[in-house]
Amino acid sequence: MIVNFHNIELESSEDAFRPTLISEECALKADFKEKKVLDMGCGIGPLAIYFAKNGAAEVDACDIYDKHLELTRLNARRNNVSINIIESDLFQNVTSKYDLICCDVSGVSKNIAEVTGWFPTEVPKADDTGSNLIVRVVEGSPGHLKKGGCLNICTTSFSNIQEIENTMQKSFPDKWEKILEKEVPFSKRLMANLDLLKDEMYLEKDGKYFWIFSMYKLSK
Ligand SMILES: C[S@@+](CC[C@H](N)C(=O)[O-])C[C@H]1O[C@@H](n2cnc3c(N)ncnc32)[C@H](O)[C@@H]1O
Repeated sequence: MIVNFHNIELESSEDAFRPTLISEECALKADFKEKKVLDMGCGIGPLAIYFAKNGAAEVDACDIYDKHLELTRLNARRNNVSINIIESDLFQNVTSKYDLICCDVSGVSKNIAEVTGWFPTEVPKADDTGSNLIVRVVEGSPGHLKKGGCLNICTTSFSNIQEIENTMQKSFPDKWEKILEKEVPFSKRLMANLDLLKDEMYLEKDGKYFWIFSMYKLSK
């Protein structure tokens, strides 16, 4: 099946993650032109290909899931761009330093990822806190950023935001800020699973329900 991402055609499949609103916002907010960029948790490659097509100097893309790496390789070829693809558990096999690390790895707790259908069964997910992957990326990023480089990272209200922000403060003292916050209306599947949600995971306004997506920029 073909999906469209900012006018880029991408091959996908039932057992792969398809780009979302969060992926789209990541592309729009990234300062990547003429920069060396790492797409951490690349999925089928939307962000890496978008950066490579639109003026990044060099793009690396990493993921832990072999199906995603295979689709990123295929999609890079399909779109005539050159991307260095790395199979890695977060930074484990990443050796370079970057001007920009763009990370949409997963800030959704496992049970929500499953019931919403956002993540096909085979796709690696965050744990029950929703924060474990993001915390590890924040902690690992200072060692993989050039001086003046930035990490753009996303999370959702289905994660432990306090733990994530505490880690940001420890790893990037006073050099992090929230650059985007969006209220997203519940899907039907999310509405049907309201009983699974803790109060802090959503907002209710006039009988309508919203979850929150946040993006942060951390600077070295
Ligand atoms: C929310 S999806 C986003 C994918 C892609 N960035 C996009 O915008 O469509 C999260 C991605 O992180 C990957 N992932 C999960 N755990 C990982 C880990 N430990 N190391 C590397 N990638 C991981 C998943 O395989 C998946 O591709």
